[in-house]
Amino acid sequence: MSRSTLGRLVGLLITGLISSASAARTVDWKPRSIYQTMTDRFARTDGSLTAPCNTTAGFYCGGTWRGTIDRLDYIQGMGFDAVMISPIIENIHGQVSYGEAYHGYWPLNFNTLNSHFGTHQDLLDLSAALHSRGMYFMMDTVINNMAYITNGSNPATHIDYSVFTPFNNADYFHPYCKIKNWENMTDAQRCQTGDLDVPLPDLFTEHADVQQLLIAWANNAIKTYSIDGLRIDAAKHVNTGFLQNFSNGVDTFMTGEVLEGAVSIMEDYQSNYIDSLPNYPIYFEIIDAFTQGNTSQLAKAVENMRITMPDVNAMATFSENHDKPRIGSYSDDIAMAKNVLVFTMLFDGIPMIYQGQEQHLKGNSVPVNREAIWLTKYDTNAVLYQLIAKLNRIRNHAALLGTNYFEDSTHTIYQGASELGFTKGVQGRQVVMVLSTQPSTSGAYNLDMAVTYNAGTVIMDVLNCKNYTVDNQGLLRVDMNKGEPRVFFPTQYMEGSGLCGYSETNVTLAMLETGSSSTSAGMQFTSGTGVAALLLAVMTSMFVMLV
Ligand SMILES: *[C@@H]1O[C@H](CO)[C@@H](O)[C@H](O)[C@H]1NC(C)=O
Ligand SMILES: *[C@@H]1O[C@H](CO)[C@@H](O)[C@H](O)[C@H]1NC(C)=O
Ligand SMILES: *[C@@H]1O[C@H](CO)[C@@H](O)[C@H](O)[C@H]1NC(C)=O
Ligand SMILES: *[C@@H]1O[C@H](CO)[C@@H](O)[C@H](O)[C@H]1NC(C)=O
Ligand SMILES: *[C@@H]1O[C@H](CO)[C@@H](O)[C@H](O)[C@H]1NC(C)=O
Ligand SMILES: *[C@@H]1O[C@H](CO)[C@@H](O)[C@H](O)[C@H]1NC(C)=O
Ligand SMILES: *[C@@H]1O[C@H](CO)[C@@H](O)[C@H](O)[C@H]1NC(C)=O
Repeated sequence: MSRSTLGRLVGLLITGLISSASAARTVDWKPRSIYQTMTDRFARTDGSLTAPCNTTAGFYCGGTWRGTIDRLDYIQGMGFDAVMISPIIENIHGQVSYGEAYHGYWPLNFNTLNSHFGTHQDLLDLSAALHSRGMYFMMDTVINNMAYITNGSNPATHIDYSVFTPFNNADYFHPYCKIKNWENMTDAQRCQTGDLDVPLPDLFTEHADVQQLLIAWANNAIKTYSIDGLRIDAAKHVNTGFLQNFSNGVDTFMTGEVLEGAVSIMEDYQSNYIDSLPNYPIYFEIIDAFTQGNTSQLAKAVENMRITMPDVNAMATFSENHDKPRIGSYSDDIAMAKNVLVFTMLFDGIPMIYQGQEQHLKGNSVPVNREAIWLTKYDTNAVLYQLIAKLNRIRNHAALLGTNYFEDSTHTIYQGASELGFTKGVQGRQVVMVLSTQPSTSGAYNLDMAVTYNAGTVIMDVLNCKNYTVDNQGLLRVDMNKGEPRVFFPTQYMEGSGLCGYSETNVTLAMLETGSSSTSAGMQFTSGTGVAALLLAVMTSMFVMLV
């Protein structure tokens, strides 16, 4: 084989590697952490910090894709490396007593964009801006239904199906029926979600034409806007056969909203229909544990999930979203908000944080949990904003030094009357979180805990930059106070974390173990090795191909 042929082959292979990287897979998503925006309520093109937004009235408040581009520093400043935006397509126009389609979940036309949020070029620019920062672009997507304003008239007789694109006649839809029992999957999947003001005509997703149109649309949108992943809205209400076809037919990672607390249902979905789901079972346990101060169920749920689910790490972990009450609505207590965030960010799975959680917003239900973020002035000094930044750092750092951090499972190591301890990661470099259900008005006390580090290990609480030493029996005396969470990591491995005064350099385990950390020569050596390894891998696969 001539040199030039070899060069061309390597070039082709590298091109292949690069282009396949644009269709991100579950394995590519596991290390990421996602910030969820609702475009209309996140940022405006004019950069306003004062434009009023009456969430109860429920009208468009002026947020745009262009506005989002201008606030990516704010998102990246917390350490997020992915953004999920609300649905992009044209929604129904007009108003009902509780507002209009600002949220994007009332589809009208799959082939046009929602002009309130910007233009084709704006969306291309948002995608490019994210990718230039090394961030992934996720899009929320409605494939279960369209929407129609009947304003109280009978949906069985008052929906004009010809207005929908491309589903422009009644044959594309299930006949109207109202969901009577939301736990009955047949009912939930055949009948309409929505209400009598805005019924949501339910697409006949068992039908081959409907399936093909939706799959083709999604693949086209992904290609056009270089989208790296999808959230599938109302996935529970789509028949499972289509969900499976959609997830096989659409060339990207997707996480499907199945709003169920039962682990057995999640297990069925993940085993059979879709790789990832937002982790609703854990969500419900988080809320119960921290709002009711009952630690036993979350401790058990962590164990149960690990044993039952095919892959907890492929799920999206969250504690707020646009459908659920804000943590701050249960209580003003900042300690509760901190404990919830520590668990959400450091438990297995891909953290997904809903815009405004970092500002401790307090909206207690739809629609008041869709606050305009600009009214917070994007305060980067907010306590929870800073906390999230630290948690993203320790998560990334533990993964850099761990062998398989994003495949490792969280284990419960402690459950007290008002404390929970969890560990994740390879022995010796694990992250240990100690959480409290006590309020910030509570006092100081000590807790002796078997933290799983070896006797004598010096560990640091990365939230307070304080050293502790594990005693000669492997116990750690944790000084609990004011309901504050603790996050431990071995002090020896803190270099490179960007936390507690340690530099944020690209260290390797070998560098820290030989004590030759943080020299720039060392770093160059490391990245040089990376390129060599990649080339070697390319050569090897080429030779395998040629044999
Ligand atoms: C917000 O909208 C609601 C419902 O339309 C209305 O009752 C309320 O007065 C409005 N609030 C403000 C501050 O305008
Ligand atoms: C629906 O009813 C509301 C009053 O509740 C009215 O303001 C609105 O214009 C009506 N919308 C349509 C599309 O008929
Ligand atoms: C579920 O709902 C369907 C109708 O939508 C009904 O035929 C069926 O009996 C229900 N199943 C259960 C277990 O209630
Ligand atoms: C999935 O798609 C294939 C090919 O279009 C089709 O034959 C099959 O019936 C679909 N499965 C379901 C459950 O709809
Ligand atoms: C915690 O919740 C479990 C399950 O709901 C219950 O059995 C237990 O009694 C609760 N414990 C406390 C202290 O409330
Ligand atoms: C923590 O311990 C390490 C190593 O033992 C030491 O270098 C460092 O100064 C200590 N940091 C603090 C804040 O005490
Ligand atoms: C850090 O180094 C590893 C390999 O040594 C490389 O894969 C990675 O891209 C580097 N990360 C950064 C942010 O430079």
